[in-house]
Amino acid sequence: MHYFKYKRNDLYCEDTVLKNLASRFGTPLYVYSARTMLEHFSKIKEAFKELDPLICYSVKANSNLSLLQLLVDKGAGLDIVSGGELYRAKKINCFSKKIVYASVGKTESEIRNAVKYGVLMFNVESPAELVRINHVACGLAKRVNVALRLNPDVEVGAHSYLTTGKQGTKFGMDIATVRRLLLQREAHPYLNIVGIHLHVGSQIIKAGPYVRAVKKVQKLLKEIAGEGVYLEYLNIGGGLGIVYDKEKPQTAKEFAHKIMPLLKETKLKIILEPGRFIMGNAGVLLMKVLYIKHSYNKQFVIVDAAMNDLLRPSFYGAYHRIIPLTKRRKKSNQKKRLADIVGPVCESGDFLGKERELDVDEGDYLAVLGAGAYGFSMSSNYNSRLRAAEILIKGNKAYLIRERELYQDLISKERLI
Ligand code: LLP
Repeated sequence: MHYFKYKRNDLYCEDTVLKNLASRFGTPLYVYSARTMLEHFSKIKEAFKELDPLICYSVKANSNLSLLQLLVDKGAGLDIVSGGELYRAKKINCFSKKIVYASVGKTESEIRNAVKYGVLMFNVESPAELVRINHVACGLAKRVNVALRLNPDVEVGAHSYLTTGKQGTKFGMDIATVRRLLLQREAHPYLNIVGIHLHVGSQIIKAGPYVRAVKKVQKLLKEIAGEGVYLEYLNIGGGLGIVYDKEKPQTAKEFAHKIMPLLKETKLKIILEPGRFIMGNAGVLLMKVLYIKHSYNKQFVIVDAAMNDLLRPSFYGAYHRIIPLTKRRKKSNQKKRLADIVGPVCESGDFLGKERELDVDEGDYLAVLGAGAYGFSMSSNYNSRLRAAEILIKGNKAYLIRERELYQDLISKERLI
């Protein structure tokens, strides 16, 4: 579900014509639909309403301040993974008790800043990190809440780079370690171990992996209850998949229907950390066709966006639909070209789509769909390319929420010796 639709021949975002934005702000350009984003947030909230969970939007999916602000205003908390994301959370005055902090490698200063801000809890990923947080908390004379991130060793059926709850990945701790830490809570006098954290992977389209993981947690909860240890929170992470191509992901409702009975049994407060589900289909990347070329029987549509703008196709082989901003009124005489859509970056892996059927010419504008999550947030300056501008649409209003970078931004931190 999203609000990027054709009306007659023009692609709109809500009530705004995208080709006008492309010519007004230039390309490559990220455009987000506020309504799409907020409706996705509401869908999760509604589906899980019976449990009234804390929904912490995963900032890494898209960390633009205006987007964070909109979600936080609607009651979202934030799932952060770095001092930088904490800085963003502070900038928009996110209530500290709605922030959860994960990451396998939190530095001492990152921990200190988060303790000072008073985040709801750290999701701890190793025994050594527990020692470090205890040490920082002691120094600040504060008691700190932590949840232990369990690696439940379940298969999720996602790309291997997006699998995090499986043996052999760097995330979380094995069950034996989590059990031991729960039973030796006095070892860390400045910590309250208040919960278990799970995040088994991303772009997961079925409930099965979550069900298997939560069942393992239930077993663990029973074991520790036998030893007189009780918890307060269960955080089941993010990972809900969306439609990029032909996948048929479960809806939030279907997911809730499958997982809620198990969650209820735990009697714990529930935390969710969706990122992609909220932002993925709420953003597109607009780009312009620079050249069309043929080489050895292959056709290339060369556009002004590249892997530095949207890394997902190059990095994961991810599929994103690519469609024109203006549909051609009558079919041109030429046959539609089956072409690779490639950027200007000097890498053979720089492509946005492969073997796509498109009827385009130089100067035409195209939109890459499903670019709202892990699009801008994974962009870079590779090849000294300027990062794109970002626009937020609310109905027929367009707001510039990040300016296009300038050449001086590229070198602003460099020093000539
Ligand atoms: N919680 C934790 C602890 C996470 O590590 C992540 C994502 C999330 C929540 C949010 O997951 P989501 O609901 O968005 O699936 N760059 C990849 C995705 C990496 C996800 C990393 N962790 C991509 O472009 O597909």
